[in-house]
Amino acid sequence: MIKLNLGFLASHNGSNMQAIINNVKAGKLNANLCAVISNNRSAIAIEKARNENIPAFIVNSSTHPNNSDKEIVRILQQYNVNTVILAGYMKAISKYLIDSFNGRVLNIHPALLPKYGGKGMYGMNVHQAVIKNKESISGATIHLVNEEYDKGPILAQKEISVLPEDTTETLAEKVLKIEHNLYTDVLIKISNGEIVI
Ligand code: GRF
Repeated sequence: MIKLNLGFLASHNGSNMQAIINNVKAGKLNANLCAVISNNRSAIAIEKARNENIPAFIVNSSTHPNNSDKEIVRILQQYNVNTVILAGYMKAISKYLIDSFNGRVLNIHPALLPKYGGKGMYGMNVHQAVIKNKESISGATIHLVNEEYDKGPILAQKEISVLPEDTTETLAEKVLKIEHNLYTDVLIKISNGEIVI
């Protein structure tokens, strides 16, 4: 069993990150919360990290022109991170970053990949497309990150029904709710060896 040393990359709200933090604090998941990095100075995720006394940093192309991923790796390694959690991180991830953690970089996507993934498929765009296509199920996917958007190996998925009365907003809300449990479930399975990455 490998003790998870988690480092988070988050650009906005960080509710998935907070759900994982809460589950670690509640003893459901045995992991260290090592560091949080955002590209966005006003990300609520940074506030949340500071409220939890987790070291938090802003790294972007203004703070580190040309080498922001290098700086991200440096910080995460400084805090002994062995598993990188993308939690609403809106920037592409370089091969350098992925290789620096032996591919242990996870992402959560608010749909059932491979459907509704790829460039431009983020946030409300995803739910809008699902509603427009009159899908009867949607859900969330946890996958390993590779260099292509939303194309890495799938580790887990959870489905929900899309009801005729669902709107983009109600669907987004329902999916986010299941995301919060799914991320921790996968991390528990990684930590006890049920999922090997
Ligand atoms: C989630 O819907 C996740 O699937 C996507 O970005 C959103 C992040 O939400 N990758 P939050 O910042 O964790 O609240």
